[in-house]
This record gives sequence, C-alpha cells and structure tokens, in this order.
Amino acid sequence: MLSSPSDTPAVLCTAPHSSPKALTHVNSDVEIAGDPLAIAHLLPPVPAHPSTVSGFAGLIRQLADDRAAWAPLVRYDPTVRWYHRLRTGPGYEMWLLSWLPGQGSGRHGHGPSAGVFGVLDGQLTEHGRGSRALGAGTVRVFAPGYVHEVVNDGLEPAVSVHVYSPGLTEMPMHCPLVPDTARDALAW
Ligand SMILES: [Fe+2]
Repeated sequence: MLSSPSDTPAVLCTAPHSSPKALTHVNSDVEIAGDPLAIAHLLPPVPAHPSTVSGFAGLIRQLADDRAAWAPLVRYDPTVRWYHRLRTGPGYEMWLLSWLPGQGSGRHGHGPSAGVFGVLDGQLTEHGRGSRALGAGTVRVFAPGYVHEVVNDGLEPAVSVHVYSPGLTEMPMHCPLVPDTARDALAW
C-alpha cells in the first residue's frame, strides 16, 4: 500500500494515448536491483578455469576475499619489485606482486595479452589515460595494446594480483610520459 510520496513507484505506466508528461522517471535495472557485480550472491560461480574478462575479475575477487590464500606468500624486496606466479591455466596466468613505497613498473605494454588486475592491500596509482588511485578492492581491465605505469607512491606497502590472457610473454617498456608543462615548453 502506498502511504507517502516516497512510496510512489518510479516507473509510471501510461495508457497508449495519455500525455507523455505522465512519465516522470524510469529506473534502469541497476537502479532497481543494484549493481550485480557488487552483489556477490548474484554473481555466477567462478569456473575452475575462467576464460572471460568477467571470469578473471571473479577469480581476483575470490582471491581478495581469501586473505589467508595470498598473504603468507607475499614477500617485500627493497632491491627489486617482487612477483610470484600464483597459478596458470589454459590461456592465462595469474601473478601476485608486492610494491614497497616508491616502487613502480615503469611505463609498459603487455604485448598481445589482455589483463585484469586488482589491488589486494594498500594503494597504488596507475598512470595510463590519465591517472587514478587504486585502493584495495579496485579491479581494472585492459585490452592488448594498453600502455600504463603502476607505482606505489604512498607510504605503505601494497599488494596486487594480475591475470594475463594469454600469459604475459613480453612487456615492452615505453618512454616515460612527458608532463604537460614540459611538452608545452618543447612545443615552443
Ligand atoms: Fe601492466
């Protein structure tokens, strides 16, 4: 029973010849049901060996929820960025990486590989098409040809997990991005 204006349904149906002004707002499925990717019980079970972007993202989320599965494996090395191959499957590899403050990947591509990666602990910054802070729980997706740089420019160590499909066979390094101010100066 509707008892207040706030109970008014958001989708108003109209007779075929009624005024279009009667339509006020139509909710999308996401507005009605919420983001299905954020509601764990609506997600399909993660297959033993995913083969899709959403499957790889599910694999990463599954790992993120199981800290005991990855935390004991993590090592931090101040001399070199530490990485560990967690698993392999048909057409993909999964890597665990640690990042001490100041450590970064350099600007690089991924050859023919597409990727999905997520931050498990701490915070990273990604410089690609713009810059963005990636906190724990963030999952990012990229296609073959994507170039970016990931760096821990915070004060705490960070841990991330990366899935590459197909497995990473090359990681070509690219010149660092030229800051806009420097590029403008060069243009003159
Ligand atoms: Fe990368």
